[in-house]
Amino acid sequence: MTPQDASLKAEEICRLAPVVPVLVVHEVAHARPLAEALVAGGLPALEVTLRTPVALDVIREMAQVEGGVVGAGTLLTPEDVVAAKEAGARFGVSPGATDRLLDACESHDLPLLPGATSASESMRLLERGYSVQKFFPAEAAGGAPFLKSLASPLPQIRFCPTGGVGPGNAMDYLSLPNTLCVGGSWVAPSAMVKAGDWTGITALAKEASGLG
Ligand code: 3PG
Repeated sequence: MTPQDASLKAEEICRLAPVVPVLVVHEVAHARPLAEALVAGGLPALEVTLRTPVALDVIREMAQVEGGVVGAGTLLTPEDVVAAKEAGARFGVSPGATDRLLDACESHDLPLLPGATSASESMRLLERGYSVQKFFPAEAAGGAPFLKSLASPLPQIRFCPTGGVGPGNAMDYLSLPNTLCVGGSWVAPSAMVKAGDWTGITALAKEASGLG
């Protein structure tokens, strides 16, 4: 898959809803009800971070949920790419980008949303063909004012800011011309997941899907 095709796919996924839930799931049994709750609340694109030992099994389960588009986050190595693809991930997200990671995503046909936090990082990715990028860690790296400043010199790059984004500041990003959607963990708080409060999570997802 070319970087250009990857970006087209990433844009399509980012346009499904204003928020992509960033999920750290510790129990495989939570996978299906969690994905169903988020999809029911209007958030179909889901990022499962590869940060727990069960993450790949969680992707396998969530990939069966109707209406969901499940991706793998925290991709760091070519091995992560192969494993994510094999588990059924339809897209990948990485906090930054390396040549090895980009090569692996391109050769395994996994559309990637690669991370960047500076004009130079964004330009390098754009030079390779990635016009849709994750802005991470969004708040710590300068927040909405920083991203807004990139819109004039780099209007061809669209972002999914993630990291420190929540209901209080999501609109600061979503109102920018270079933001397609935001990523965030607030729609699936660990206490609610642990308690199996799927109705509560659907309610949070509904609020989030109404943003923008
Ligand atoms: C992460 O690193 O977990 C994501 O960027 C989500 O960050 P958040 O918990 O601040 O939404």
